[in-house]
Amino acid sequence: MSFKYPLLENAFSNQDINSAIKVVKSRRLTMSNKTMEFEKKFSKFIKSNYCLMVNSGSSANLLAFFALTNPLKKNKLKIGDECLIPALCWSTSLWPIVQSGLVPKFIDVDLKTFSPNLDIIKKNVTKKTKAIMLINVLGNCSEIDKIRQFAKKKKIYLVEDNCESLGSIYKGKNLGTFGDFSSFSFYYSHQLTSGEGGMIVCNNKFDYRILQSLRAHGWDREISKKKNTFNFVNQGFNLRPLDISASIATSQLKRLKKMIKTRKYNRDMIIKYLKKSPKWDDQFTFFESSKHLKPSWFSIPLLINKKYLNYKKNFLKRLEKNKIETRPIISGNFINQPAIKLHKFKFKKKNFKNSQEIEDRGFFIGLPTKKIKLQDIKRLTNYLLDF
Ligand SMILES: Cc1ncc(COP(=O)(O)O)c(C=O)c1O
Repeated sequence: MSFKYPLLENAFSNQDINSAIKVVKSRRLTMSNKTMEFEKKFSKFIKSNYCLMVNSGSSANLLAFFALTNPLKKNKLKIGDECLIPALCWSTSLWPIVQSGLVPKFIDVDLKTFSPNLDIIKKNVTKKTKAIMLINVLGNCSEIDKIRQFAKKKKIYLVEDNCESLGSIYKGKNLGTFGDFSSFSFYYSHQLTSGEGGMIVCNNKFDYRILQSLRAHGWDREISKKKNTFNFVNQGFNLRPLDISASIATSQLKRLKKMIKTRKYNRDMIIKYLKKSPKWDDQFTFFESSKHLKPSWFSIPLLINKKYLNYKKNFLKRLEKNKIETRPIISGNFINQPAIKLHKFKFKKKNFKNSQEIEDRGFFIGLPTKKIKLQDIKRLTNYLLDF
């Protein structure tokens, strides 16, 4: 059989598919009991009381910022307030800030965690800073507890984009529970997938109510005891998930811990075989877990070292030809993206040295949820060292 190494192969088990079929057969496809059941189980898993499922991680970020600027929120953010965001970000980590009327201020990241550390944050916070969008990149995080404390002291809201880090535990606490609002994505290839799907997490009932109304048209059906009212108490979107997605996600959640463990095993084996190959010549710097973190990986990010960097373009092309799928770290230094030019953001390109370095040197490969055969690990590592 020919060798291939996609970003993710065969994400769904027979149980996942059967649980979806059951929902389809029930003919109740839209958000209902299955979504509530998943929210409850997810709450238990990450140990947070207020979890609301939405149709994507992007929608979760959108809700976070529209909750922060919502007229119902006490100490709401105002149009023009500033929000820090790492230049190494995903598009829909950034745009909800703009869409909700806030002003993004780009900051650089630490080369080790791919996320801003406390020093970077302190250097960039001014009187105008009212929120921080922090992204836990590919299962890792920076000193998020200290950033949390600092933000609290300064009365700055913390939004934690945890779309890439479900299951990672920092100092005994799940990532995705540090922010005033935290988001998760269940898109294909992430730690857990329902095809499309996401979760927004907050830490008090009041914010939870705001999120509930924003998720579904701004009405109060889920809030009020009266059923089927057409009472609209807030602005709204329709970001509801399907019960089909929720049932797949519930089925996947049952084996999430096992998948995390297997992925860790696969990662360790791949790195071990890279390092012990006769071809090993320090081609890569590996993305190591932050101190105090029990990571949950779904990929292996690699930084190509200087000696081999000139070959990156051809090297990635060759991997693709050999059916090894790769992609950039998040979307690289987002400041380089054409969409940025549509806005009049103020920044100096020279201030994002590390984000640029990660874009220039970085890429990632996937990490299967089933144990990789030794033979395939040897093939993969052989291709990876073929510069
Ligand atoms: C950091 C980050 N934030 C947000 C998202 C958006 O998630 P979704 O694809 O579920 O909309 C992604 C997607 O991969 C992401 O990597």
